[in-house]
Amino acid sequence: MRFCLNVDHVATIREARGGNEPDPVTAALLAELYGADGIVCHLREDRRHINDRDLRLLRESVQTKLDMEMAIIDEIMGICVETLPDLATLVPERRQEVTTEGGLDVAGNLSRVMKAVTELHAYEIEVSLFVDPEHEQVEAAVEAGADIIEIHTGDYANALTYEDLERERKRVAEIAAYAKSKGLGVNAGHGLNYLNVEGIASIPEIDELSIGHAVISRAVFVGLPEAVREMARLVKK
Ligand code: PXP
Repeated sequence: MRFCLNVDHVATIREARGGNEPDPVTAALLAELYGADGIVCHLREDRRHINDRDLRLLRESVQTKLDMEMAIIDEIMGICVETLPDLATLVPERRQEVTTEGGLDVAGNLSRVMKAVTELHAYEIEVSLFVDPEHEQVEAAVEAGADIIEIHTGDYANALTYEDLERERKRVAEIAAYAKSKGLGVNAGHGLNYLNVEGIASIPEIDELSIGHAVISRAVFVGLPEAVREMARLVKK
């Protein structure tokens, strides 16, 4: 299983002051040295954290794998096909939200999603769709021509009781197996941290985890190398 680090939150700290530090590009390169298998960044329409310069430099310098998270917005689609990330992960985006709040409704927006997947495939960009753990969304992802789904683990991460956690874990595991049986690659992410990651990392059908906030938060206290090394150890255990 691969562990990809989302560096958006490094840019969020930079934007709190303006200026140029801390630099998400430096964070990405350091994370690669300490065991991250890939780097994720989300270029939002409002550029609240990652900006165009970050994306350009990440594309030039990341040597593992660059996953660009993005909404289906003409301007961002144009930047994506110029940047040529290794993977484009399509997510819903609302300006008012603090972070991505749920999966993309692929089933309810099939023709729009299919068009975006086709456009990105024309540039040989692999496409992942961030979806809630629902059979309907997996079936729509197959129909849209996606290569991969990223299962939204937010409900699992937010579970307050052991019973809820176990129910949500089973939901993720079942959808991961279903998606694999349909020929899709399977990623997962959102809200995963050092305490809850093992429940998801133990699901054999999942190929890759995308994790950001918990690692950058821990890095504040123990440094990025230690924070990345420990998460990589848990994911691969
Ligand atoms: N995957 C997707 C699609 C996301 O939008 C995010 C949040 O940026 C993550 C994974 C990582 O979530 P977290 O920062 O909670 O680890």
